[in-house]
Amino acid sequence: MSDSAESLQASWSAWKTQVEAALAKSLSEENGLGGECPQRLREAMAYSLLAGGKRLRPVLVLMACEACGGDSEAALPAACALEMIHTYSLIHDDLPAMDDDDYRRGRLTNHKVFGEAMAILAGDALLTLAFEVVARDVRPAAVAAACCADLAFAAGGCGMVGGQVADLEAESQSSRDKDSLTHLQSIHRRKTGRLIRSALTLGGRIAQADVATLGTLDHYGTCIGLAFQIADDVLDVTGTQDKLGKGVGKDAGHGKLTYPGLIDLERSRQMARDLIDEACLAIAPWGERGRRLEALAHFVLERDH
Ligand code: IPE
Ligand code: IPE
Ligand code: MG
Ligand code: MG
Ligand code: MG
Repeated sequence: MSDSAESLQASWSAWKTQVEAALAKSLSEENGLGGECPQRLREAMAYSLLAGGKRLRPVLVLMACEACGGDSEAALPAACALEMIHTYSLIHDDLPAMDDDDYRRGRLTNHKVFGEAMAILAGDALLTLAFEVVARDVRPAAVAAACCADLAFAAGGCGMVGGQVADLEAESQSSRDKDSLTHLQSIHRRKTGRLIRSALTLGGRIAQADVATLGTLDHYGTCIGLAFQIADDVLDVTGTQDKLGKGVGKDAGHGKLTYPGLIDLERSRQMARDLIDEACLAIAPWGERGRRLEALAHFVLERDH
């Protein structure tokens, strides 16, 4: 393993521990959700939120904040909020009305354990809690407002939710014409890319980065966000349930519009490589302070989980 990959792994695992402690606290009766939250709902939220996962998005928030000279501790609430929104998106993505999946993060999906109604509501409550945490805990208030706006845009109709709608609509379109690649790129940018990009801009905002720096984070985040979903499509074909903690080989069965389905595995990998090169080029002028982001971009490409 290279030095930068090793150093990435060390800081990732330290930040992951910090994020997981903060996430657990955010659901507690005393310091988080509060005592009036129904016990079964709290359990359903905790079941998925505290089930592990890579914690890529919150780690990226902290990493971006630090790369911009900010205090990563101050970015913890926004990091947790983004992970809550991501987890809600996974709970809903797995529902029978959507991808109908049975395994996630190495365990049965939320609806398999708690039922569909509770899974929908646990997702709703995680989404709502995310905004409560940012509005209450991010300082100063103007930065909190900007973070809420970033998150809402990334998660909503022009972002993740819009991308999920387009993903489902594409299942029932049998023709794969010359515009399919452009359309597929637009689905992936929205359903996955926008939340990942928001990790970068949230970190930058909390470090009170200037407009040019936010622009660089935006560019880097857009590239790795799309590459991340291309890699997810590839792993659905080449990965294992053991490593990924979720079922594999489901996209083709559902008639999903995916990169390997449209342009084959090798060209998909090449497209992801090109995006990672572009992301690294965007942060190259940062030199040493961009090293971890560079190593993380390579992880997106090489990951097996
Ligand atoms: C899975 O995301 C869903 C996609 C957007 C591809 P991750 O691969 O980041 O899942 P976790 O958070 O590690 O479980
Ligand atoms: C998920 O895309 C995107 C989300 C917004 C959750 P997928 O449907 O490909 O994610 P997995 O493969 O189920 O994790
Ligand atoms: Mg899906
Ligand atoms: Mg899915
Ligand atoms: Mg997938």
